[in-house]
Amino acid sequence: MEAKKRLSNPNSGLNGELQVPGDKSISHRSIMFGSVAEGKTVIHNFLMGEDCLSTISCFRKLGVEIDVTEDKVIVYGKGWDQLTEPAEILDVGNSGTTTRLIMGILAGRPFHSVLIGDSSIAKRPMKRVTEPLMQFGTKIDGRSEGNFTPLSIRGGNLQGIHYSLPVASAQVKSALILAGLQAEGMTEIVELQQTRNHTEKMIVEFGGTIEKHGDIIKVKGGQVLKGTDVYVPGDISSAAFFMVAAAIVPDSRVLLKNVGLNETRIGIVEVMKKMGVSIEIVEHSKEGEPIGDILVQSSNLSGIEIGGDLIPSLIDEIPIIALLATQASGKTIIKDAEELKVKETNRIDAIVKELGKLGARIHGTDDGMIIEGKTSLHGGEVHSWGDHRIGMTLAVASLLTDSDVYLEGAEAVKVSYPNFFEHIHQLHTK
Ligand code: S3P
Repeated sequence: MEAKKRLSNPNSGLNGELQVPGDKSISHRSIMFGSVAEGKTVIHNFLMGEDCLSTISCFRKLGVEIDVTEDKVIVYGKGWDQLTEPAEILDVGNSGTTTRLIMGILAGRPFHSVLIGDSSIAKRPMKRVTEPLMQFGTKIDGRSEGNFTPLSIRGGNLQGIHYSLPVASAQVKSALILAGLQAEGMTEIVELQQTRNHTEKMIVEFGGTIEKHGDIIKVKGGQVLKGTDVYVPGDISSAAFFMVAAAIVPDSRVLLKNVGLNETRIGIVEVMKKMGVSIEIVEHSKEGEPIGDILVQSSNLSGIEIGGDLIPSLIDEIPIIALLATQASGKTIIKDAEELKVKETNRIDAIVKELGKLGARIHGTDDGMIIEGKTSLHGGEVHSWGDHRIGMTLAVASLLTDSDVYLEGAEAVKVSYPNFFEHIHQLHTK
């Protein structure tokens, strides 16, 4: 365990430009699709965070050659059938996306593999994936009847299924799509609430097909994918920390360059606009994964209610939105977000407890939280709970406190944003 990180408020605005690291969801998928495609895949702006490195390590153990250079990652895919039975346990580290999506791939492979992760992964529910994957015909077992790691999979001989997703989860949807690509016949997945659609977009980039009619996604089995070039946009979930920092720290103006603006991920922009933040977006390209620049300036904010279909489009941004709400006048209510309880930590408990220690007026509910603002925050000792997004939220909070914040578990930021603290510093020295 590293020592507590001391965070001192520089008492100045944040100013300048920033290129946030590559999108985590798209980075994972580019390794996975590159590994099962035929031919070379070259990935630009890949996120070198711990989670995505776990994905690379798992696919290397499955026999895929992956070269990591300074500015790109090259995956030498040889098709689905060239994945080989791993002699070692596949370690997914802290990554829920690796765990759930790789299961969709392994479900169709005729060999045995075992998945294990860290103490956070060991608590995250996996039945939501293992149960529908077993309906395809694969054999999976694990702790608590296949709900928790360690999990073991013996795949092969899948039959397409019709399945209605009981939770709004892109990880579950993607696992089923990956199994469907290898199954016999058609797989139909009913998605009642739209979640991030990077998997669907990437199938098309790799030369495959997928259809969506209303709420129903249709995937044809037996598809052969072709390696390609992937450009990973900046991660809007990482940009969110600086969007909020610029909004709440007086005298700030921050331009975030080349951020992914996928329509299923930009709930944070809608929320910030509704709260009164000055935010401008210049879109550069709409093809495939849209990309653009985001300019945010400090603003006067008002509380709002956030819930319903908006939640999946900002689920990872809720910790930092909670901090934003502490600086808005009036009440902010976040509801319909019970999924927060099964993220890297129980993010309702974590954010309520840790922001509360800094003086926030915040309390948890069954499906979210209620925040009263505007509040002056004070220094104190806080903990990331080993969760990257909780750690980064608390670090942004320290830019407003009247005395130092001591953050335990600050190293968690490496999961998705290895140079996060350098970037905060950079915006204060412009
Ligand atoms: C992700 C989906 C979301 C999100 C996670 C990444 C993905 O999880 O919270 O950080 O890449 O598909 P759920 O599918 O559990 O909602």
